[in-house]
Amino acid sequence: MAQYTRVSGSVGLITLQNPPVNALSAAVRQGIVDTVKRALGDPKVKSVVICGQNGIFCGGADIKEFGTNMSGPPLVPMIHAIEAANKPVVAAIEGSALGGGLELALGCHYRIAHSKARLGLPEVSLGLLPAAGGTQRLPRLIGVPAALDLITTGRHVTAAEALQLGVVDRVAEHSTVDAAVKFALSVAAKSLDARRISTYPCPRPSDFDALFEGAMQKVRQSARGAIAPVACVQAVRAAATRPYLQGMEREKELMATLFTSGQARALQYCFFAQRAVSKWNMPNGARWDTSKPRPVHKAAVIGLGTMGRGIAVALAQTGMSVVAVETQEKQLMEAKQAVSGMLERGAKRRGLTPAALHKISYSHDIQAVADVDLVIEAVFEDMALKKKVFQQLSAVCKPGTFLCTNTSALDVDHLASQTRNPELVVGMHFFAPAHVMKLLEVVYGPQSSPQAVATAMQLGKKMGKVSVAVGNCRGFVGNRMLKPYIEQAFFLLEEGATPELVDRALEEFGFPMGVFRMSDLSGLDVGWRVRKGDGLVESGSASGQPTRLREGRRYSPLGDLLCEQGRFGQKTGRGWYQYDKPGSRVARSDPWFHSFLEEYRARHGLVARRIDHQEVLERCLYVLINEGFRILEDGIAAGPEDIDIIYVFGYGWPRHRGGPMFYAGMVGLATVLERLEHYRQAHPDVPYLQPCSLLRRLVASGSPPVHRWREVIKKLHSQL
Ligand code: NAI
Repeated sequence: MAQYTRVSGSVGLITLQNPPVNALSAAVRQGIVDTVKRALGDPKVKSVVICGQNGIFCGGADIKEFGTNMSGPPLVPMIHAIEAANKPVVAAIEGSALGGGLELALGCHYRIAHSKARLGLPEVSLGLLPAAGGTQRLPRLIGVPAALDLITTGRHVTAAEALQLGVVDRVAEHSTVDAAVKFALSVAAKSLDARRISTYPCPRPSDFDALFEGAMQKVRQSARGAIAPVACVQAVRAAATRPYLQGMEREKELMATLFTSGQARALQYCFFAQRAVSKWNMPNGARWDTSKPRPVHKAAVIGLGTMGRGIAVALAQTGMSVVAVETQEKQLMEAKQAVSGMLERGAKRRGLTPAALHKISYSHDIQAVADVDLVIEAVFEDMALKKKVFQQLSAVCKPGTFLCTNTSALDVDHLASQTRNPELVVGMHFFAPAHVMKLLEVVYGPQSSPQAVATAMQLGKKMGKVSVAVGNCRGFVGNRMLKPYIEQAFFLLEEGATPELVDRALEEFGFPMGVFRMSDLSGLDVGWRVRKGDGLVESGSASGQPTRLREGRRYSPLGDLLCEQGRFGQKTGRGWYQYDKPGSRVARSDPWFHSFLEEYRARHGLVARRIDHQEVLERCLYVLINEGFRILEDGIAAGPEDIDIIYVFGYGWPRHRGGPMFYAGMVGLATVLERLEHYRQAHPDVPYLQPCSLLRRLVASGSPPVHRWREVIKKLHSQL
């Protein structure tokens, strides 16, 4: 809706009204059309101001309308009518002007923004482009390079940057609407000939071809297969090479392709899934809206290794006091330096002074955590050590302190049982580097109180994380699904693939790194230690003939064999690949490994066969998806959205493919099932390939879309 009033005698004031962000729903568009008509037809009105209620100009299109039969007046002619008006129209931008909101403002003759406002065209992040003239007007207004940057990245700019770029004409410190009305009065009689952006010639830079070639190369590299950034470049190119109306046609054409692509659907799904996961619920009925978090003013981190340092930074950046405990003197000294460096760099990036530096106090002694509200333990992944630390914490901390563990896979319930108040214990599983990576798995056990979960979820949000509440099981959601995925990659090597082939297939799919490059980065020794702990590694296997079966299940000792040779990945300069020196990051093919693999196959009587990208994807991804279905069946994740958000934010799953469970729906559940059955028959000693009963049930019930899986899961649980 849009409200119309006349102010200061001759200014028609149009106020968009659609909380919370005044999105351009059908009713709002109709409101704008009607009120603009009224203002233009009113002889007393000499100029017009458009603003939004509640201090927000407009957050853009109403995403809920996507995929429905759009009713109401379309945006493009509405904006054209504003631009063509014979009375000056001023956009008064408070809060934000995003997407269609900014396009609306670009159709106005003047733009005044509040100093705190943010502007941007984020459509690309939803798999789309600004298709209400944004790709045609913005380059005409601010030039091709700046427009390309804003449109292909979707980044928001501050009012100050918008002024510098020329997106807005003025910045107001106080009431933007008052300033805009005053301004509208002053320009009432001025000619509008030079104010209609669509009539501007698009500046054509001298290095035109090189500029677009460079832009295309850049987006192709960073987009990892996403098509929207490429279409954005094509649309801006049309602005620079065609007359305005033809450019608009091209914009429309490109938008139509994007709109019907699976990628836009996947990205929009992610947008909603990200919001859905904050509305968590537990199998015992506890929920986000009935569980009250407790405020955390002071927190502690135990163990300042790789993870503890990042966690301390993330906590201090929220402004709270942090106690950091580390028993090793050398580690403590190094950690202090590393943490200060991270905080200083973080503050510099945000143009702040590193106030958070003074929020951290360091200690060798666990007694220092006596008065904190919440502790996050990040000592070595060793159950005996963690048990001891939890016993100590339970004795030292004041009553009511929440005790959290950053374990990657150990049993959170078991740790809880070491404390006097197991209801205060939850997992807070961060991802490396913890101050950068967005994902946080909040792991609850059967005894965790709803308040402990709510507090950890809220703290995650405060730290800028996307937090997902999950149940307790080995590896929780993310690492549990990763296990069969890595296992398949090892098997593929045995059968004829190379690390290069497997990685290329996965990287072309959209992962930033294939499984072997990832393994080299995180260290082969990590998995080796876990397999040793599980009794899977046969000692001295390098000298003898390691078996390829464990308790009747196929097992690949390849990773163990590399570790026995001291090949731990990047840190030792050798792993699945070779590196110039230890710590170097550029992976190069390693002839040693290739001949080692050939010998290994010969020793085991394995005949290499040709493996193509399709098989790599089907085996690695479908087995991971199958484990995702098991997780849903077990009630460890509340819904497919939780799994998908974990994979998109924590494991580099390409966002434009929506997450593994959404992807399964796109491929077709029946296809996933059929391929799993096919591979299971070929590899009967690999239990992970056995299709899960939830997948079978979903296929039997007609493969419903992903948003309806919860009903099937509920039915399944009620029958158990
Ligand atoms: P790390 O080996 O880098 O650091 C562990 C630190 O804990 C060391 O500095 C050690 O001196 C200290 N420590 C040991 N006992 C202590 C005690 N009693 N009191 C205080 N400090 C003590 O280990 P990292 O990689 O930081 O892992 C920590 C935890 O985080 C583990 O449970 C791990 O599974 C988990 N994790 C690790 C991830 C990674 O990528 N490295 C990712 C997610 C979780």
